[in-house]
Amino acid sequence: MHHTVQLTESVHWIGVNDRKTRLFENLWPLENGIAYNSYLIDDDKVALIDTVEHSSAEEYIDKIQSIIGSERKVDYLVVNHMEPDHSGAIRALVNQYPEIRIVGNQKTFKILSAYYGLESNHYGVKKEEEIDLGHHTLKFIMTPWVHWPETMMTYEKTQKILFSGDAFGSFGSLDGGIFDDEINFDFYREEMRRYFSNIVGKYSNMVQKAFKKLEGIDINIVAATHGPVWRHDPNRVLSLYDQWSRFESEKGVVLIFGSMYGNTEKMADYIARRIAEKGIKNIRVRDASKTHLSHLINEVWRYRGVVLGSSAYNTQMVPTMEHLTNTLEHIGAKNHYLGIFGSFSWNGGGVKKLTEFAEKTDWEMVAEPVEAQGVADQQTFEQCDQLAQAMADKLNQME
Ligand code: FEO
Repeated sequence: MHHTVQLTESVHWIGVNDRKTRLFENLWPLENGIAYNSYLIDDDKVALIDTVEHSSAEEYIDKIQSIIGSERKVDYLVVNHMEPDHSGAIRALVNQYPEIRIVGNQKTFKILSAYYGLESNHYGVKKEEEIDLGHHTLKFIMTPWVHWPETMMTYEKTQKILFSGDAFGSFGSLDGGIFDDEINFDFYREEMRRYFSNIVGKYSNMVQKAFKKLEGIDINIVAATHGPVWRHDPNRVLSLYDQWSRFESEKGVVLIFGSMYGNTEKMADYIARRIAEKGIKNIRVRDASKTHLSHLINEVWRYRGVVLGSSAYNTQMVPTMEHLTNTLEHIGAKNHYLGIFGSFSWNGGGVKKLTEFAEKTDWEMVAEPVEAQGVADQQTFEQCDQLAQAMADKLNQME
């Protein structure tokens, strides 16, 4: 007996939770698991919206049959997104339902062929095209690069459900609560921002373009491929994604350092204390050698202020800081106040490389970089005071 959940009388959640996988995309930690959401519309024609990861294919087909029985067939599979966390059960579905029509766009089919060798059953749709299921009508909105080039959204017109793919998704398994009115929002807000900043943030401008395409569409339910289904207050998730993709951040600061023997860490603590004395309450201090990149990116996306510190390491930054700054550059994080500090050690490199990173971004340097020769002396701490004051002044000007 498989438990499925109804969004409406004829629209069912048939997703699965994954609490086994340690790293999403073999990169991003899943301490709280993840859900792969799929949906079934039980009408004159039966339609599925996206599938699940391949290891759950058998359970997934059992769920479908627990709703429509083993005699009825599935008419359509809508593929909003081809990343294997959603397309992993397609081959199993085609084996089970050889006549199923796979709904996508030209880019969908290119990837379908490349990943699964599936050259038939294609049902190509163009923007704004519709499919009538009987009592439900599906309309397709092309939203490329949210998160891959083929991504699209599907809007069910009768009940005003937006099947949004990765957009509006979240890390975190669905532990009993499926809908936004059944969950602890604070938990999912963190996991949602982490998901957004790690996976979708690079494509923020494409998220903004998607919002333009959604203008004027009346949405009762947002049903993404990960995380909760938003039926009570869909605007809550829409406005968070809007804010994050505009690079709007909160009043606060994250200090991230790479420190071999603790001298650079000491400077981080000193600067953080001085910022706190000036009234800033949201301050996080993180050791890049211990806190995973995923969480560091999440906190950079969260707070307007970012203070980066590194001792020299083989004339470069500490490698974990190099990984962080390379990733921030790659994903194009924007709109921050920046401070830089570190230790010269025996030949310098940490502060020098952090300064080069700063020059490649549009972030606003609030003060001159601070560099200790080894252990910070009185003069260095005075420069740290100036950095802290400048950062706090900028942050205190925010509402
Ligand atoms: Fe959830 Fe881009 O796949």
